[in-house]
Parts: sequence; structure tokens; C-alpha cells
Amino acid sequence: MNLNIEEIPTPSIVIDLDILEENIRKMAQYCRSVKCNLRPHAKAHKNPFVARKQIEAGAVGLCCQTLEEVEALVLGGVNSEILFTNMVSTKTAIERLLTLCKNGDVMITLDSLENGENLARAARHRGLVLDFILEVNVGQNRTGSEPGEEAASLAFELSRTEGLRFRGLMGYEGHLQTSIPEFDKRKKEVHSALSKLQKSIEEARKLGLDPEIVTAGGSGTYNITAEVPGVTEIQPGSYIVMDARYNLIDTLGRDFKNSLFLISSVVSTRGDDRVIIDMGWKACSLEYQIIGYDGMPKAVGYDPGEITYSPGGDEHGILKIAQGVEASRRPKLGDRIKFIPSHCDTTVNLYSKFYGVRKKGEVEIVCPIARR
Ligand SMILES: Cc1ncc(COP(=O)(O)O)c(C=O)c1O
Repeated sequence: MNLNIEEIPTPSIVIDLDILEENIRKMAQYCRSVKCNLRPHAKAHKNPFVARKQIEAGAVGLCCQTLEEVEALVLGGVNSEILFTNMVSTKTAIERLLTLCKNGDVMITLDSLENGENLARAARHRGLVLDFILEVNVGQNRTGSEPGEEAASLAFELSRTEGLRFRGLMGYEGHLQTSIPEFDKRKKEVHSALSKLQKSIEEARKLGLDPEIVTAGGSGTYNITAEVPGVTEIQPGSYIVMDARYNLIDTLGRDFKNSLFLISSVVSTRGDDRVIIDMGWKACSLEYQIIGYDGMPKAVGYDPGEITYSPGGDEHGILKIAQGVEASRRPKLGDRIKFIPSHCDTTVNLYSKFYGVRKKGEVEIVCPIARR
């Protein structure tokens, strides 16, 4: 393809494919070294092109959080086992999920008898048996059955339901991914959270169940969770692209490099200290500020504080240029400015395609972000 990063329209997102592949390789290598399976989460990329690279590097399958992601992978030819880590409850969503289970190799996640029975009934109607993972709440307080005996007896009940087959347990410690920057403190909390998953394994075994899969972990906990006894696989997602929030997490920012960037253009310069770019609310996600973090994208090539982004409306971003920035480094009209997004998942979701670039900025692939 004869296109260079300097020629792509703005605002856009680009992925540095060399860095992406290095991140994929590193995570796969780490998992191999600790003998833990890797089932990366596709929520950060939603893309069969990237999923295939992860599988080729050794992933046992993928995780998806939305039906659209499952569709993008299954219809995109990814034929490794997919774990749908979310739940659906409406009749139409159940039917859509079952179509995917039939076409691909898709495991579902359950946390209630009622939903399990609804899915089992729909599966029986289609002559299907659904493989399920029982989700255990290990502290995020989102979905998931209460741990220990409750989770085990629910898994047992569901395993006896015609149309369902028990495969294992999931305990995603989402509340610990970015909240504790210091590795040792995070490790302690992860061990405490996952002891609930371990207790659930123990109780399930007492009932004669054999959890063949025990899945947990994200990018912020990957090198803790993968080494927790009982865990058979981890499901990190963001590590392939990283973002400004994850850069602040001890070890992670060193282990994996940013491969996802926002490219914007300067559309107006107002005096020495204010520059307007074409990247506003519609082009970069800023929601982290709602939960008390710095949710702003970070300009590449500038020290912290030299350029500060703030939204200036749907299509505008306002950059405050610090006084100390020399005139030669101040962005000029028409310049392109590269940013690291604050949150990769929600930023990717704003775009219909990404530009995959190699060294010297050559665009190798323009990849649709299918079925957002
Ligand atoms: C269930 C589940 N698993 C795995 C992940 C991956 O986490 P991360 O992108 O932080 O690696 C997420 C992210 O939200 C998730 O919800």
C-alpha cells in the first residue's frame, strides 16, 4: 500500500504493527514460561486480523465482551475457541448468541440459574449443548455468583441442566487492574481476591465437578494471576496496544509498549499558548476523569505538562502550550500531533478503522474495526 502516516486523514487511530507484534510475542512467551494458557480479550481490538496474530503466537482462544465482537471474530474466520465473558438475557440476544455458538466454537458465561435455564431451553430447541463457565464475583461487584459454596452449587445445578455442559470458572478481578499502581500492593490484593476463586474451585470439586478451565486476569494483573495456583488461563486485552492509564502501572509500562496512537491536525493557532486541533469528544474517549483519573490523551514527543489537552467540543481539542516550550517545538498550523489515548478500549470503539503502520510510517493495512 502506497500510503504514509503523514497522508492519512485526521483524526484517525493508528497501530504500530511492529510494537503490537512485540507485545503479542512477549505476553505469549511469558505465559509459556509460567505454564499458564493465554486467552486474550478481543475487546481492545475487536478484530480478526489481530486475533489471528494472537492465536499464531500461541493463544488458546479469545475472549469477547459483546455479541458484535464474537460476530467479528467468528465471521472473520477465527476458529479457535471463544469465551463470551459477558451475559445476554433478552430473547433476541440469546438467539443471536446461539447462532454464533452453532457457527463457531463459543463458550458462554453464566451467573444465575434463571438465565442458565433460559439459555438451555433455547439451546435444546436448536439441538445444541452449550459449554458454560460459571462466573464468580471476586470483588469487582459486577456480574458473578457469590464465591465458595454458592458458586459451586450453582455450577452443579447448571451442569445438571439439559443443554448445558460445565467447563469451568471465571473470576475477573477488574477492580484491581489499574487501581493500585504499586506491584507488591496490587499482588497482595489480587491474591486475596483470587482466594475466592480458589475456594470456589475447592467447593466445586467437593460436588464432583471438574473445572477444566479457571480463567481470570487482565493486563494489570497478568503476571500475578497467571501464577496463582488453580488458574489455568489469563485473559488480558489492553497489553497489545496499552494506553496512558496503563502506562502508570508498575511493571506493565515497562513490559509492554504503546502501539495505539491518535493522529490529529492543528486547525488553528491562537497566540503562543493555545493551539486548536481536530480531535474533540467524538475522536477520543475521556471517561476516566469521571472515576477520578487523569482521562486526557498525552501528546507524544512532549514532556508531561508541555502540552495539555482539553476537549473543545465535538470536533475540537484545545492544547495549552507551556511557556517553556521553545518556539521551534510549538505546533504550527497544519502540523500533525500524535497522542497516546487515555483508554484504549473506548477509543478504538470510536473509529470504524485503524491504520496499521510499520517503520518509517508506511501504512501496511487499513483494518476495519468490525461491528462496533
Ligand atoms: C471480563 C474481562 N476480562 C478481561 C478484560 C481485559 O482487561 P484489560 O484490557 O485490562 O487487559 C476485561 C476488561 O474490561 C474484562 O472485562
